[in-house]
Amino acid sequence: MSRARLLPADAEGIAEAAAIVRAGGLVAFPTETVYGLGALATDAGAVARAFAAKARPADNPLIVHVASLAELRGIAAPLGPLASTLAARWWPGPLTLVVAAHPALPRVVTGGLDTVAVRIPAHAAAAALLAAVGAGVAAPSANRSGRPSPTTSAHVLADLGADIDAVIDGGATAVGVESTVVDARGSAPIVLRDGAVTRAQLGLDDADIDHDAEVQRSPGSRHRHYAPACTVRGAEPGAVAAVVAAAVATGARVGVIATAPVAAPAVTVALFRDAEDLARRLYAALRDAEAAGVDLVVVETVPETGVGRAVMDRIRRASA
Ligand code: TXA
Ligand code: MG
Repeated sequence: MSRARLLPADAEGIAEAAAIVRAGGLVAFPTETVYGLGALATDAGAVARAFAAKARPADNPLIVHVASLAELRGIAAPLGPLASTLAARWWPGPLTLVVAAHPALPRVVTGGLDTVAVRIPAHAAAAALLAAVGAGVAAPSANRSGRPSPTTSAHVLADLGADIDAVIDGGATAVGVESTVVDARGSAPIVLRDGAVTRAQLGLDDADIDHDAEVQRSPGSRHRHYAPACTVRGAEPGAVAAVVAAAVATGARVGVIATAPVAAPAVTVALFRDAEDLARRLYAALRDAEAAGVDLVVVETVPETGVGRAVMDRIRRASA
């Protein structure tokens, strides 16, 4: 049962969506990464409703989205040199900066922290909505907590249709994995969550693998994430066929997300070309696997460089 309205990404739809947000309502909207669930950042009640709609743990802070640097006033303290440099280089775009929060920002947004995550998204509909709202919009990914992030308006409606006011339909998102979250308070960025902007693009060592440290750093990393109803298992390219065959032999119904079909009697859920392509399609494919009724979906792993780092992080968490 869905009560959310599906709004077109045109002038009328954006105006309608902005009015709902300004009035304290919840509107999901597309960004270049995934769909976000927007609530007015300065309205503690609206933000609390966003947490409730997602069933999100209160200690997992939200990203505040703005249309311009000027709109960070009242949200974040004035940006330091590193944050200013990263903002100038990457905004609008899929980089989220963790900086000192403004004292006036309701701490429900930050999960009680004195830091706040902020970004200016690059998607045209997101930019238009934020400009029309004219204030910061707190927006977690618009999935039920623990589920794969939504890359289409249909994914949003499937998870949250009964609990939010509207969703702006912008089609499938271009990047498919979330923004990169960095702590930008020091002299060099510290990656808290790998995402669309790669470590190499940030001038960091692409090969430095330190998963446990990351789990400590990002509050969101502590929670179960990105998981469909079926079991998810990663398999190296050379091992996919054997892993699938072994699972099929146990009588399980098996799905495959890989670069080539396998010979075993399994459901080919999605075929992808490379890490960028898998980034775009992973979350939809996990939902498709679930809809196909498989017990297990085997996902071919990708090299852990570039956006492959974010993709492998999500596969690991989905299979945890
Ligand atoms: O691409 C994205 O980032 C999407 C779109 C909608 O912008 N948003 C998104 O939001 O993925 P969410 O809430 O699913 O993830 C936000 C991440 C979480 O891992 C959270 O812990 C982290 O950002 N985060 C937020 N505020 C933080 C803070 N003050 N300190 C450290 N991590 C923070
Ligand atoms: Mg999320």
